[in-house]
Amino acid sequence: MICLGIESSCDETSLALVRDGQLLDAVLATQADIHALFGGVVPELASREHYRFIGPLFDVLMERTGLAAADVNVVAVSRGPGLLGSLLVGTAFAKGLALGTGARLIGINHLHAHLLAAGLQEPLRFPSLGLLVSGGHTHLYRIVSPRAWEQLGRTLDDAAGEAFDKVAKTLGLPYPGGRLLDALGQRGDPVPHLFPRPYIDNDTLDFSFSGLKTAVSGYLGEHPEHTAVAGKLRAVEDAPQALCDVCASFNWAVVDTLRIKTERALDRHPDINTLIVAGGVAANTLLRAEMTALMQRRKGRLILPSPTLCTDNGSMVAYAGWLLADRGCEHALDFETIPRGRRIPDDMRCVQ
Ligand code: KG4
Ligand code: ZN
Repeated sequence: MICLGIESSCDETSLALVRDGQLLDAVLATQADIHALFGGVVPELASREHYRFIGPLFDVLMERTGLAAADVNVVAVSRGPGLLGSLLVGTAFAKGLALGTGARLIGINHLHAHLLAAGLQEPLRFPSLGLLVSGGHTHLYRIVSPRAWEQLGRTLDDAAGEAFDKVAKTLGLPYPGGRLLDALGQRGDPVPHLFPRPYIDNDTLDFSFSGLKTAVSGYLGEHPEHTAVAGKLRAVEDAPQALCDVCASFNWAVVDTLRIKTERALDRHPDINTLIVAGGVAANTLLRAEMTALMQRRKGRLILPSPTLCTDNGSMVAYAGWLLADRGCEHALDFETIPRGRRIPDDMRCVQ
């Protein structure tokens, strides 16, 4: 069974093909440079770019794999959450293709796809704990099967990636700043308790990162020397030690908070011994090291998708689509596209 995956929820247009659970090929057009000029994703520009690229990317993918549209058995597409105009470009393309070729159609929860992508690297086992850390979401899930998800925790305000990007912006670093803050932090030493680990003194599995962001911007206001240097930085290697230490301290505050809540979730669900960490922030060096140490300590299993599988990509959508199609699931042509902030309905028809 060949499944085409289409991703267009934010600022990456990406398509991929999965055959019988194996990735055949993937293509991606990133818009990061365009949005960097504005310091964040501009929705109208994003949907225009998706519209410009989606057709040519499909042609390239078909040509590279030597396949024709008629060979695709399943068309899977990110249906949300995301930017509505961007999502609509992908879902309209998917619906047209499925209608034209007779392929089965599946609308994919973009957040679930991030976590399920781990199966492209290592066999998935259920139940698993899923930590999704991206630019728009910070969620903890108990994953019972590719279809059955229980949300254990979520952020009450900013997502982890958003906190990285906002702190980077305050420093005057280019958007999206997570990767740069990571690189700078790696060259520094965290100063313990310089910044608070937010929202840990409670017994929930929820997160809240907006207070940390405020604490960092207050600190930077009192120490303008860091922003002065960071705004003019040409290369990470040129960064002064003091700036790297501030970045390392912020990195540590975010990562240790994620570690505390993840460990709490594992304590509360002793039948789970596999942890999957995914989403753009899962590319973070310190997070990868801390989660590796955590699961080694607990003698559990950790699946950390490679950094290219962590950021938005079509492969995760194709793989999630293949998993669901393999269980006999599909959507009707009129399934809804769901923007950020609305719950994704469980409206798939499945035979198993
Ligand atoms: O999953 P993703 O590609 O897009 C969304 O669906 O949001 O995640 C993008 C987020 C951005 O906030 C970006 O700054 C962050 O992931 N990010 C990182 C790193 N690489 C990407 N954050 C921290 N450390 C990184 N190495
Ligand atoms: Zn994403």
